[in-house]
Amino acid sequence: MPVRVGSNGFGRIGRNVFRAAYASQADIEWVGANDITDPETTAHLLKYDSNYGPFPGQVQATDTGLRVDGKELRIFAERDPAALPWGELGAEVVIESTGLFTDRENASKHLEAGAKKVVISAPATDPDAQIGPMINIRALDKIARHVEDALAHGARVLAGGKRLPELGPHYYAPTVLADATHEMLLCGEETFGPVVPLFRFDDEAEAIEAANNTPFGLASYFYSQDLRRIDRVSRALEAGIVGINEGALSSEAAPFGGVKESGYGREGSKYGLDDYLSIKYLCQGNLA
Ligand SMILES: NC(=O)c1ccc[n+]([C@@H]2O[C@H](COP(=O)([O-])OP(=O)(O)OC[C@H]3O[C@@H](n4cnc5c(N)ncnc54)[C@H](O)[C@@H]3O)[C@@H](O)[C@H]2O)c1
Repeated sequence: MPVRVGSNGFGRIGRNVFRAAYASQADIEWVGANDITDPETTAHLLKYDSNYGPFPGQVQATDTGLRVDGKELRIFAERDPAALPWGELGAEVVIESTGLFTDRENASKHLEAGAKKVVISAPATDPDAQIGPMINIRALDKIARHVEDALAHGARVLAGGKRLPELGPHYYAPTVLADATHEMLLCGEETFGPVVPLFRFDDEAEAIEAANNTPFGLASYFYSQDLRRIDRVSRALEAGIVGINEGALSSEAAPFGGVKESGYGREGSKYGLDDYLSIKYLCQGNLA
């Protein structure tokens, strides 16, 4: 039996969940989407994605939404999630990806409307669960490989450290590891899972040296109440983004990007426009 999924918001995240379900041929039936954008624009945005390329199937706008490979996809234009026909459509999971209904009270409106579960695509307030399954088995295998490698190099498990098959094939327990060292894979490769390795250090210089001892430099985070230390450490960290007493630091108004092997250029902010602009140099002389 396919899982019946709908989305509130058919923007970047909503469309990409739809694309991922389409591309993986997962056993998912899309029951409908809700977005206040008109179907013509939505069809265009689904067809042409500057990051992921053209949609691999046929997409047309209709009066009621989209037709994808000849199959109707209803798109509602309803501002109140409680008024969506999720019950009638048999929606089991609603992807809440408007960015607007991220707290328990508002996301629950989808449940009132008849959905069985809601996945909120953004940091949520007071949800039932913060950590869900990994995207696929490869992601889970990578986490397991990193944890096994860390244990082989002397790490100790303080919490988690195992798969949770009783919840489903893609769950890994949130894990905290003590005695992490720089030889471990999780120090050089992105684990992309719920694993926190703890490293010991004696002073600020040692912490900075360890943090910079990587070919990568996207984001760094540190915690301090000392303004002098904040100034010193944020200058010394080799990263494009530094979080100071703050972990959720992405914002459309701030430049997102790294240094070293974490790439060139920036997304977001006015600097995000640089890649789309051509510089024209005018050299004017001899004006009488
Ligand atoms: N989980 C992740 O990895 C991740 C990554 C990027 C963004 N996000 C979060 O997901 C959310 C959506 O991000 P996005 O990039 O898809 O944004 P987006 O702006 O591309 O999409 C939001 C969509 O919601 C629609 N919308 C606005 N108001 C609505 C309403 N009242 N009812 C129905 N639809 C409405 C908009 O028309 C738009 O199409 C944001 O909160 C963002 O922070 C999560």
